[in-house]
Amino acid sequence: MEHHHLKGYLELLLAVCACFFLYECWRRKDEDVPNWPIVGMLPSVLLNIHRAHDRMTEVVCKHGGTFMFNGPWFTHMDVLCTCDPANINYICNTSFSNFPKGPEYSKVFDIFGESIITSDSDSWRIQRKIAHSLMSSKKFRTFVNRTSQAKVKGLMHVLKHIANQDQGAHYSEEGADLLTSYIDYQHHDELPIAKSDKFLGDTTLNLVLAGRDTTSSALTWFFWLVSLNPEVESKILEELRANSPELSDWQQGELKDFDSEEPSQLVYLHAALHESLRLFPPAPFGYKSALQPEVLLTGDAVQPGTKILIPLYTMARMESIWGKDCLEFKPERWITERGKLKFEPYYKFMSFNSGPRLCLGKEVAFTQMKSVVAGLLFNFHFQMMAGHSVTPTLSIILLMEKG
Ligand code: HEM
Repeated sequence: MEHHHLKGYLELLLAVCACFFLYECWRRKDEDVPNWPIVGMLPSVLLNIHRAHDRMTEVVCKHGGTFMFNGPWFTHMDVLCTCDPANINYICNTSFSNFPKGPEYSKVFDIFGESIITSDSDSWRIQRKIAHSLMSSKKFRTFVNRTSQAKVKGLMHVLKHIANQDQGAHYSEEGADLLTSYIDYQHHDELPIAKSDKFLGDTTLNLVLAGRDTTSSALTWFFWLVSLNPEVESKILEELRANSPELSDWQQGELKDFDSEEPSQLVYLHAALHESLRLFPPAPFGYKSALQPEVLLTGDAVQPGTKILIPLYTMARMESIWGKDCLEFKPERWITERGKLKFEPYYKFMSFNSGPRLCLGKEVAFTQMKSVVAGLLFNFHFQMMAGHSVTPTLSIILLMEKG
């Protein structure tokens, strides 16, 4: 008899739960990211994880540029996503000290060790000072120029070998590397911390990770965009020819390499790289965490510990920021009527971050990217394989799936 009652209660409970679930579904039918009891918006995120960047773009654009993502109950996973340049300027510049990366960032990205990328406040300040003086030294610049040129030369031979299978490839390796530069720098004796082996290891790893994967991601997207836009390729080649006086000595069929200083003045090439970095930012998210309560310029309130995510891929696709043609690959966007490079504030073009934590390797990255692009586009023609689908991965670096 008792068993019969229990079965009845269970059936009733199940029916109530089913009604509640159906009611919640009906109540949320118009929400684009349903916010469920207990699990929050997580189910919707998981359902769209395969197209996370595009989904984020749809949601954030629909909500005018700022959207609160509610994570599961008690998990402290609520994140304020904002693409609003006024908010970003406030977070990254005006109120910089109230928005560090926070301790959770260094836990998640422990691969970076205790170094410039993950640290905040005084520790970050000292490391930035050291890295900045190293990277602005003449020795470092010479090192970057020499290695970039040598690497591009090696790469060109590899590509030529692949293109004409019968030719031998000669790939020259550079002896010196970043670590050598840092060890040399230790002798300058400016800051004692630079002498610790742990610091040396973490910082070298940081510069390699910060510089290598971002630059290779940028180049991958750049060559893909150029392969889809032959008129951009023609304009880059035209500019290269017009600005390389020693081309008269160059024989057709020979590999032409460019001195890494040579392409630095090329406005169109610079603009095309900016445009590619805008549409496909190699570091696709900015992370911050609030210390004190504040109300952002959009009226959104943040509490101590509120996490803030700046989705750069989405920013590039917002008409309110870049205009109706925001989805187009248009280097002209970066050129003034007088043919000079157009400056856009970093809180709008966030690919190198904005404010006191602006990327330290921006100039290095441009030197390297310009050498690679000039050398490769001048000597080779890039074409996409038919049927090759291109999608960005969801990771700390915006990689091309199967890229
Ligand atoms: C296209 C290439 C690159 C892109 C798009 C890029 C982008 C960025 C971004 C977005 C940040 C801020 C990260 C954050 O705070 O969350 C950053 C920081 C940094 N980048 Fe780059 N980067 C590039 C190349 C390089 C290179 C080549 C180097 C070094 C040789 C470098 C060194 C650094 C360093 C040291 C920081 C930390 C700055 C700080 O926190 O004060 N980056 N970069």
